[in-house]
Amino acid sequence: MSARILDGNAVGRAIREELRAEVAELGARGRVPGLSVVLVGENPASEVYVRMKGKAADELGMRAATIRLPVETAEAELLALLDRLNADAAVHGILVQLPLPKQMKTDTVLRRLRPEKDVDGFHPINVGKLVIGDRTAYRPCTPAGVQELLLRCGIDPRGQHVVIVGRSLIVGRPVANILLQDAPGANATVTVCHTKTQHLARFTRDADILIVAAGRPEVITGDMIRPGGVVVDVGVNRVDDPAAEKGYRLVGDVKFSEAAEVAGAITPVPGGVGPMTIAMLMKNTVQAARQAA
Ligand code: GUN
Repeated sequence: MSARILDGNAVGRAIREELRAEVAELGARGRVPGLSVVLVGENPASEVYVRMKGKAADELGMRAATIRLPVETAEAELLALLDRLNADAAVHGILVQLPLPKQMKTDTVLRRLRPEKDVDGFHPINVGKLVIGDRTAYRPCTPAGVQELLLRCGIDPRGQHVVIVGRSLIVGRPVANILLQDAPGANATVTVCHTKTQHLARFTRDADILIVAAGRPEVITGDMIRPGGVVVDVGVNRVDDPAAEKGYRLVGDVKFSEAAEVAGAITPVPGGVGPMTIAMLMKNTVQAARQAA
């Protein structure tokens, strides 16, 4: 393996350490940052993420609550809960873990959040603010984490060709918008590829920085990567592995063993982008507490 490992665990920990002082300072002014995480149903991956988010908030001294609702909850009931959290002055940030059960419309639910409490940055107001470069917006945590990881590892996207694989509202589109900004830490030339892209490898091979959020295990192979390029793997996929203790193991959207031979730098899975998502959620929640009227 020749690639440098971009260690999201270490960088995420450093960010959370920086936030500890801010949380304490806000607490001393009677404004302990409050985060409510809502989980509907029992999606095993969501369970893990929600637990990690609550733990990180607790460790920083925030006031964190995880609210669990059964899978059959009616949409109106979730909306009523969000109304209560919107009105609660001790709650600065609200996060509804996705995906939601079938009977709920994600769009309707996300629009119910007060934009000032939408620490995921998914409300149309925050999406619009991001696109126009308004820094009062919350930036979606995973895309913001990708940018922060690059910068803290000394990789400036300015003038670089960033190729993104995936156009989801959670990762692909917002990371394109973030790195396209005319702002420090951005100014990239951005290409977004997706499921209908023809000749995908033609684009990925041209990437100075390749960001993969395709949601499919190991679709990016070593031959699709530019020698010496930077690879950021956002994917987390469970694949069966009878030899593993849990019967599965986690792999990214990039075939790591091959990519690490070709790339100059690469994020591992787990331990790359994942911890950055958590760190940026904490950062957004502190921002929410600061900005609270
Ligand atoms: N599901 C997968 N990623 C995310 C995320 O960043 N936020 C929320 N709320 N749900 C998710």
